[in-house]
Amino acid sequence: MQISLEVNGERVDVQVLPRVNLADFLREHLHLTGTHVGCEHGVCGACTVRLDGEIVRACLMLAVQAHGGSVQTIEGLSDSDEVADLQAAFRDRNALQCGYCTPGMLMAAQDLLTQHADPSREQIREHLSGNYCRCTGYQAIIDAVESTARSRRERVS
Ligand code: FES
Ligand code: FES
Repeated sequence: MQISLEVNGERVDVQVLPRVNLADFLREHLHLTGTHVGCEHGVCGACTVRLDGEIVRACLMLAVQAHGGSVQTIEGLSDSDEVADLQAAFRDRNALQCGYCTPGMLMAAQDLLTQHADPSREQIREHLSGNYCRCTGYQAIIDAVESTARSRRERVS
């Protein structure tokens, strides 16, 4: 099927098989390998991307369902520096080891921070509860998101 969409601000017109999911499409057709694939059934959050402003699990969507939409991946957020402070906080707090979960964590954390300037630790936990990390443990990740929220608030005040 022919589909047209925007990916990280660039228009993409391609032919895809109807059965190709959005995660595989991003990784294999567009070589955007920052979108990771873990469980492939909507549980781990590694494949989280933004579609028309909302975070979605790219393994649960077909690429054809994104036709006409606007997708942002971790590469887009990273290149625009939208999450530069979050990435720095993850590094500073040792909130990653293998990094497999990190793109999805950053996508979900940024989604929370765009909705809540001052989330409680409980709200951070809740928002990231669909993103699994198998090696770092969650404490440092929560710390990194909390400290980013704090520094963003300080910057605007
Ligand atoms: Fe999509 Fe796990 S790979 S949620
Ligand atoms: Fe390895 Fe999270 S840093 S799975």
